[in-house]
Amino acid sequence: MEIATKPQVRPADAAGIRDAAKLLRDGGLVAFPTETVYGLGADATNGRAVAAIFAAKRRPQFNPLIVHVRDQAQAETYAKFNPIAEKLASAFWPGALTLVLPRRRDCPLSALVSAGLDTVALRVPAHPIAARLLAEAGLPIAAPSANASGRISATTAAHVRESLDGRVDLILDGGATPMGLESTVIGFDSSKPVLLRAGAIPSADVELVAGPLATPSNIAIQSPGQLASHYAPHSTLRLNATTVSPDETLLAFGADVPKGARVALNLSAAGDLKEADANLFAMLHTLDAIGLPIAVMQIPSDGLGEAINDRLRRAAAPREAS
Ligand code: TXA
Ligand code: MG
Repeated sequence: MEIATKPQVRPADAAGIRDAAKLLRDGGLVAFPTETVYGLGADATNGRAVAAIFAAKRRPQFNPLIVHVRDQAQAETYAKFNPIAEKLASAFWPGALTLVLPRRRDCPLSALVSAGLDTVALRVPAHPIAARLLAEAGLPIAAPSANASGRISATTAAHVRESLDGRVDLILDGGATPMGLESTVIGFDSSKPVLLRAGAIPSADVELVAGPLATPSNIAIQSPGQLASHYAPHSTLRLNATTVSPDETLLAFGADVPKGARVALNLSAAGDLKEADANLFAMLHTLDAIGLPIAVMQIPSDGLGEAINDRLRRAAAPREAS
């Protein structure tokens, strides 16, 4: 008899998706692509399956998970939408926007997805493989990014495998994720919208629909996942570098790149933030594997640059835990 080695990486074709859906119904863990990053999924109504996500990621249990659903109608069976949330869902779903809303009293989702809070984070992913998996499984899927807690998010099946080796039942390989940065997370202070995490949809775009966003620093609610150190490579990061030494690697941006790095990768030679977005985590993974300190050039902070700078700041922050 052959001993199956976990995790199995399989193409996200019809057979792969069918088996992944069955694994999810049986309480297993399946990594799958979304338009932002890969998710590590489990049946969101199954407490044991959700607990297995925390164990696989070694994620602290105070940090709640995003629940992925097929459409807004399904989301409304789990959470209470206010008028601004309704507008945001119609404008951005399916897509890279997560809404944190009060759970309904009869909400069948595991309490663990909310980490004990009375709210739940919901998102309708746009990636066709994620959509198909949701439809075939017939379940809401709890899925944080498919990386070990605190580490760089996975934008390819190979990243998932490196980060969660042996702790996932199946990895559905759907190629590189198109956006490359996690969803923008919006919560509400009573009915006032709050930016909990900058992400793949620029906050200025969200404000066109929601009106001005508050930031967690000036109001009471916080996203428990917004730890100072996150997305951390093993190598140290030096931000806003204008020069580089031969003992460093360089993460560059734009056409005007300092010479002398051992290895240099350019997020976007054309200075295109969307391209930079899609390349960020993959290039961090590649440079990190070299094992030298990483110098990072300055990235503009407007539009998509907001989320890129947020990730880089956290990646460079002193590590809180080992
Ligand atoms: O693009 C994405 O959002 C990816 C894909 C897989 O959908 N998912 C993702 O999940 O990035 P995760 O778990 O790595 O990040 C979820 C963020 C965390 O910062 C978490 O603290 C916050 O959402 N969050 C989840 N539920 C929350 C809640 N009830 N209240 C406040 N923040 C919440
Ligand atoms: Mg994450």
